[in-house]
Amino acid sequence: MYGRRSQPGASPRRPLSIPPAVQALLIQCLALLMTLVLAFLVLPLWQVQANVAMAVLLQGGIAGALTRWRRLAPWWLLIQCLFPAALVLVLSFGLPSWIFLSAFGLLLILYWSTFRTQVPYYPSSPAVWHEVERLLPADRPPRFIDIGSGFGGLTMHLARCRPDGDYAGIELAPLPWLASLVRARLNGSRARFLRGDYADLDFGDYDVIFAYLSPAAMPALVAKAQAEMKPGCLLLSHEFAIPGVEPQLVLHPGGGGDALFGWYR
Ligand SMILES: C[S@@+](CC[C@H](N)C(=O)[O-])C[C@H]1O[C@@H](n2cnc3c(N)ncnc32)[C@H](O)[C@@H]1O
Repeated sequence: MYGRRSQPGASPRRPLSIPPAVQALLIQCLALLMTLVLAFLVLPLWQVQANVAMAVLLQGGIAGALTRWRRLAPWWLLIQCLFPAALVLVLSFGLPSWIFLSAFGLLLILYWSTFRTQVPYYPSSPAVWHEVERLLPADRPPRFIDIGSGFGGLTMHLARCRPDGDYAGIELAPLPWLASLVRARLNGSRARFLRGDYADLDFGDYDVIFAYLSPAAMPALVAKAQAEMKPGCLLLSHEFAIPGVEPQLVLHPGGGGDALFGWYR
């Protein structure tokens, strides 16, 4: 299908298949355990009495060292080192516990399984929508899917501009999916929104597949595209190229900014 570029001999950064967010959580738990052992069993041997500030520094330092050892992405190092201090700071405000539960609930329905997919919600811009619109096949009613459709802006835009086609979005997270469904109903849009994992779709059912995912998601996406896309089908990826695969289209929506990559089957 796509021409493969030669692969530089990079070794995998994270040999374990545990998602980075779960690894980060396990590292904090281990760092807490080690901090408790140091504070209550080791430091007293030298008549040192650990206080909260010392515990925060110890836990942050240990978590940072373990994060480096696990070779997680650089931003995890900062998060892991600062997490204990941030926790103590927020607890010092004495906020009611329902605030934490509500914030957790909101983030849960917005981001859902981002810890596993490593694809957070982030909307594409209208400049990208216009570029995708120009790439729809002109000679037949397009069958389009946005895999990870977020709040549905792109899918509804296309359904409005090219009413002859079939436009669908599929989304894992409940809040964006529900919001796109309600928006489509209120706007009288023909766009359809499914809740689920794009992995369960058959890419052979579509002419244009749009993805705005993340580097971590690209290998699985290209494997599925290579197995299922029919001849003439176009795979578009905003911002993220497929590692080792030369794109046939590289466009810059709005004249600048992040690229829109395209591969024809
Ligand atoms: C960067 S946002 C893009 C939103 C939208 N496509 C746009 O252009 O505005 C990526 C979305 O993909 C969703 N997502 C991630 N993995 C998915 C999967 N396997 N199946 C369906 N949706 C997924 C995320 O929940 C997130 O809302």
